[in-house]
Amino acid sequence: MTDAFAEKAAAWDQNPVRVAGARAFFDAVLPLAGPAAKGLVLDFGSGTGLLGLLFADIARRVDLVDTSPAMVQVLRGKIAAQGLANVAVHLGEIAELTGLALPEASFDLVVSLNALHHIPVIPPVLAQLYRLCAPGGHIIVADLMSEDGSFHGAEAAVHKGFDPAELARQFQAAGFEVQGTLQHHTIIKADASGAQRHYPQFLLHARKP
Ligand SMILES: C[S@@+](CC[C@H](N)C(=O)[O-])C[C@H]1O[C@@H](n2cnc3c(N)ncnc32)[C@H](O)[C@@H]1O
Repeated sequence: MTDAFAEKAAAWDQNPVRVAGARAFFDAVLPLAGPAAKGLVLDFGSGTGLLGLLFADIARRVDLVDTSPAMVQVLRGKIAAQGLANVAVHLGEIAELTGLALPEASFDLVVSLNALHHIPVIPPVLAQLYRLCAPGGHIIVADLMSEDGSFHGAEAAVHKGFDPAELARQFQAAGFEVQGTLQHHTIIKADASGAQRHYPQFLLHARKP
């Protein structure tokens, strides 16, 4: 399978907009998750770990899942350089990973930033996350609000953002109790014509009963 992020991985962390977006999401997650952020944390579509590695200082353990070998290579380099002992990396599709590495009903907090719009079929992912969440566990995702496709330009992106209310219905269908959705951050970046555009993001917070 081609790695859609192969050419972006090496410079991924050099974009200050991405770094700031990950920090903004982390800051938004902490008060919503409460003590869950100190337990077992899973970041899916983690990329280079801009978000997930922020949890390494506070969580008992952080598991990061990503399909891109190039992003995972950068991530592993950062983990080694920082000497992080409570972080594990899994290369693969979140919906397909099984086994001891990601035990069922174990995660206190699942987070994800800007990954869902790259995943063609969402319900199997939500079913998997429901299996992985501990009872009472939190899942908090942030992604693009519905946009006109200019965010990725000519690049293939599977979803042009989401209607948060519709996505919330999919979470409910998977068994989660949706705590709420809110707009929490705006990505400002140039579109293909060079014009600065504002791309609002939503945050969705749900819990496994
Ligand atoms: C836009 S990047 C976001 C990376 C990171 N969350 C960040 O904010 O810097 C989306 C990431 O999701 C990963 N991804 C796409 N589909 C996936 C899937 N089915 N399972 C796990 N990761 C996936 C991609 O490889 C990519 O690294």
